[in-house]
Amino acid sequence: MFTRIYRSPKLSGWLLFILLPALLNSCTTQPNAVTADASRGYTAGQAMVVSAHPEASRVGMEIMRKGGNAYDATVATQFALAVVFPVAGNIGGGGFTVFRNADGKIGSIDYRETAPLRATETMYQNNNADVIAGLSTDGHLAAGVPGTVDGMVNLHQKLGSLPWAELVQPAIDLARHGVILTEKEAVGLNTTREAFLKNNNHKPYLVKESEWKAGDTLRHAALARTLERIRDKGREGFYAGETANLLVQEMERGNGIISHQDLAAYTSVWREPVTGTYKNYKVISMAPPSSGGIALLQLLTMVEPYNLSKYGWQSAEAIQVITEAERRVYADRATYLGDPDFVSVPQNELLDKGYLQNRMHTMQLQKATPSAEVAAGTLPMYESEQTTHFSIVDPAGNAVSTTTTLNGSYGSKVMVAGAGFILNNEMDDFSTKPGVPNMYGLVGNAANAIAPGKRMLSSMTPTILEKDGKLFMVVGTPGGSTIITSVFQAIINVLEHNMSMQQAVAAPRFHHQWLPDVVQYEPDAIVPGVQTILKSRGYNLEVRKPYGRIDAILVLPDGRLEAGADPRGDDAAAGF
Ligand code: GLY
Repeated sequence: MFTRIYRSPKLSGWLLFILLPALLNSCTTQPNAVTADASRGYTAGQAMVVSAHPEASRVGMEIMRKGGNAYDATVATQFALAVVFPVAGNIGGGGFTVFRNADGKIGSIDYRETAPLRATETMYQNNNADVIAGLSTDGHLAAGVPGTVDGMVNLHQKLGSLPWAELVQPAIDLARHGVILTEKEAVGLNTTREAFLKNNNHKPYLVKESEWKAGDTLRHAALARTLERIRDKGREGFYAGETANLLVQEMERGNGIISHQDLAAYTSVWREPVTGTYKNYKVISMAPPSSGGIALLQLLTMVEPYNLSKYGWQSAEAIQVITEAERRVYADRATYLGDPDFVSVPQNELLDKGYLQNRMHTMQLQKATPSAEVAAGTLPMYESEQTTHFSIVDPAGNAVSTTTTLNGSYGSKVMVAGAGFILNNEMDDFSTKPGVPNMYGLVGNAANAIAPGKRMLSSMTPTILEKDGKLFMVVGTPGGSTIITSVFQAIINVLEHNMSMQQAVAAPRFHHQWLPDVVQYEPDAIVPGVQTILKSRGYNLEVRKPYGRIDAILVLPDGRLEAGADPRGDDAAAGF
């Protein structure tokens, strides 16, 4: 069987393709004609992996060609990403996997990091109760207890079919033989050089005397040894024995607080996904401690009564409706969401259709609602950027949507000496103090306060859509606070604007998160004529660099799978 690996074309090419109709209409708010017969992304007949790196996609796809299922491919892809994509791929972080079996059964596993047992609510504040800049984002104290390895072990035990060792081995081979750096990776490593040196008492092997260049080979000898221990001992290869000793020694050298007790106590949790509908689609996404699923369903429900396809893609009216919904959803997020094992999350109330429609009653198309006038809704009976996503469908029709993270690029920048992996800086996803923004500008409250063993609120939104009871889409993205709005806009692009999966992923996006009160947009996401209209209606606009890397799969009417591999990164699809 012939296998293809498809790398997405450069963003500029897609932008021209998608934006041409919009540019022609740039002085109006008329619908932009994105046609249904436009070019599609790479398609495959039976199985597909779309991830942030071609080597990781290849590894997952080859596992399925050997007879492994989508869960086996998830494990193999995740470990491969830890090697080939160190900026976010990880064993020192955590994440979420949402799945839908071919028989329609759904589920999810939460392997989010936890606060160490010695963590306290005010650990990032000084004696004046001011947050100490950088403490929750850089260095040893920023790291939560990693969950990825436990999550992969549990996923494999419950749903995998091939032997565990066969799933870890491809990552070991990549680590030993080395990986050829792309331009983006070389730039990422070079720009993080000083932070690596500052945050480590040793020189991590990711630091080179001279600059990294595209085409250089990066070998990961220490990481290969850690992966061998994981291959041979499973969970114990990470949370006990030599790897655990190296991690705890690293903590002691850098005044971190993760202990052997933390590692031994870590457990991933099987959770019911959140589900809802948008028109005739069923949406399946991640429950708290991610805010992603609830927020995505809130957004979809709030915009459903509006005729977005008639307004047109990125028309002033469509941007307004979406922005006003986003503003209100992020206000709820800041107030009500946290780890459900620690706080009571009013999930049913937040997803109530009546509540959500009521939230939009104050919206008017003539003028923006200032965020200062928007607070979290009052609920009946109610007394929280470097991540990576991959989507997989196997020949049997099992679908897996996985988002994992170190949080910021290269996480805390701390590499565990001798073990070759980077630790997350996920503690910054907690609210370090009520109302003080985190690195994504998100504010939080008591629901997302730090407590020992608690999971920090996430925005990760691994999602699966069904249409008429059949698999329709697998989607997700990195991007910190922008994850939710990016996934939402990709779905709307396909459902309302007839884009192909690749177009929907490539299309420029915009984002509003309540605070700050600004619509951030990628270059070309809002054409000049629409910018003028939005400003006249009271919207603050701010252009920002491209963000997110959506990797998605769409099931076409003939049953083929279409990839959406984000051209903002080196993302790639592989299939057969
Ligand atoms: N670290 C990003 C998130 O979990 O939302």
